[in-house]
Amino acid sequence: MELNASSLPADLTALFQRVSRRYRGCGRFAYHYVALKLRRDPVHRAVLMLAAKEAFDDVLDIGCGAGRTTVGLHELGYTVVAGDIVETLIEQARTRFPQLDFRVMDARALNVETASFDAALFSYNGIDVLYPETSRLACLREIRRVLKPGGTFVFSSHNFCGAMFSGGFFYLRGYLNAGRFIAQQLTNRVAREWYMRYDDGGGTQYLFSAPPARTVRQLHDCGFDVIEVCGDKGERAPRRLLLRQHHVHFVARARA
Ligand SMILES: C[S@@+](CC[C@H](N)C(=O)[O-])C[C@H]1O[C@@H](n2cnc3c(N)ncnc32)[C@H](O)[C@@H]1O
Repeated sequence: MELNASSLPADLTALFQRVSRRYRGCGRFAYHYVALKLRRDPVHRAVLMLAAKEAFDDVLDIGCGAGRTTVGLHELGYTVVAGDIVETLIEQARTRFPQLDFRVMDARALNVETASFDAALFSYNGIDVLYPETSRLACLREIRRVLKPGGTFVFSSHNFCGAMFSGGFFYLRGYLNAGRFIAQQLTNRVAREWYMRYDDGGGTQYLFSAPPARTVRQLHDCGFDVIEVCGDKGERAPRRLLLRQHHVHFVARARA
């Protein structure tokens, strides 16, 4: 699969712009965030590219929040079922997009039928909140169960080294980031399990942040073939990915 933005068909570019415009009324942050994600996030691009090339129908949008990704998929003509564990988010999503199918759903026990989807999406590192790691594996197995053989799963995840050096490996900011990140882990009891502590605007969070190779292994163990691993701007060189990319995107196929 080619994830190069320049090879996007023109009608998808128009779609990105249309979806982004919807978010103008939600404030500058939401508008720019969505615009950037839809244009540059390889996860979204991958799904949209597959749509253009393979014309599959049924997509499961896991951890859909208030429906940001769901509405984009719907506008492309997919049949989307979207689920989130937080009831209030699902209520908001239903109010905003009453024509779409939103359900309260736990990613570790998906209340949908076996082999019923062509693709699944767990966007914006949502899978990293699942703790402990056995919970993450349970989620991967569930996604494998609900996908048809050969179905596609796309998602992103935090990258341990990239979290330290994403500010730049050869620049002062890189070392400042690394220092701050290490300081945050000093009191983190679950760092050994690859759950890193992040203190940011959302408060303290513990998120799975391992080297990408660990996620690749998990995918293999849970019945997937990995077909793409890339960074936020589409990089694929393992060294650049490992050291510089805070988030890594995975595209995997359910083994037949
Ligand atoms: C980072 S947000 C992404 C939201 C949305 N996909 C987007 O890109 O705007 C992660 C979402 O995963 C949801 N989530 C967390 N744990 C979950 C679980 N066990 N099952 C389903 N959803 C979950 C959260 O409620 C949250 O809405």
